[in-house]
Amino acid sequence: MTTPVLELTNISKRFGEGEARVDALSAVSLRVVRGELVALIGPSGSGKSTLVSIAGALLTPSEGRLYLNGEDITDSPGQQRARLRLREIGFIFQGSNLISYLTGREQLLFIADLIGLPNGDARRQAYRLLDELGMARRADHYPEELSGGERQRIAIARALMNDPALILADEPTASLDSRRGRAVVELLAREVHERDKAAVLVTHDERLLDLCDRVVHIADGRLTGMPVGAGSAAM
Ligand SMILES: Nc1ncnc2c1ncn2[C@@H]1O[C@H](COP(=O)(O)OP(=O)(O)OP(=O)(O)O)[C@@H](O)[C@H]1O
Ligand SMILES: [Mg+2]
Repeated sequence: MTTPVLELTNISKRFGEGEARVDALSAVSLRVVRGELVALIGPSGSGKSTLVSIAGALLTPSEGRLYLNGEDITDSPGQQRARLRLREIGFIFQGSNLISYLTGREQLLFIADLIGLPNGDARRQAYRLLDELGMARRADHYPEELSGGERQRIAIARALMNDPALILADEPTASLDSRRGRAVVELLAREVHERDKAAVLVTHDERLLDLCDRVVHIADGRLTGMPVGAGSAAM
């Protein structure tokens, strides 16, 4: 059997204590293999961003294990997790998190520099991604000169710059109109299928689910695996 790129086993996450305690995730298990785009869908506050942050080794779970390419990295030291993130993971956050003093193109080349990609390769890769996202002509603008959707498209291009094995996208289409949003998920799906990557896409938009290989539902920190509505009625 192929080793999953991402495997979460029995992950729980609690925030705070006593009255303020929040069980953001309870006994969540999930495997994502190469070539698979998994949609994660659920109401606000259900634990989607928490799950994605744990999957990307940004947040430590209270219980459970996290495996990346078969390796248990739950207890890996911070530096090692940072290195893994840089090399293996592409993050697209709910906000675009761009660096204000770099142009769109420079945001991408900065990542290439961090991972030591040769200059020519970096420029070609940056050009390809900016072009596919319809941002080639806006690539030399700073974030404050771009619309929210344009910023998000730069952030998506940036997340793909390191040619990651795992793509984690937290509502990447929230600030896009439906046509652009669909184009972005089509691009993600293409990256996943043609370049054999694994991806988790958090979305509220059910119209995008047909582009995904599998849909996982989350409610109150638990994966239900059932259609929206059917799952909550049974709880
Ligand atoms: N750092 C934190 N401290 C305390 N509670 C937190 C923290 N982060 C998240 N939570 C709580 O955990 C729960 C899950 O939050 P999470 O951000 O994962 O939800 P979400 O599904 O991503 O929601 P949305 O769709 O609104 O982005 C929420 O009740 C939230 O208030
Ligand atoms: Mg969220």
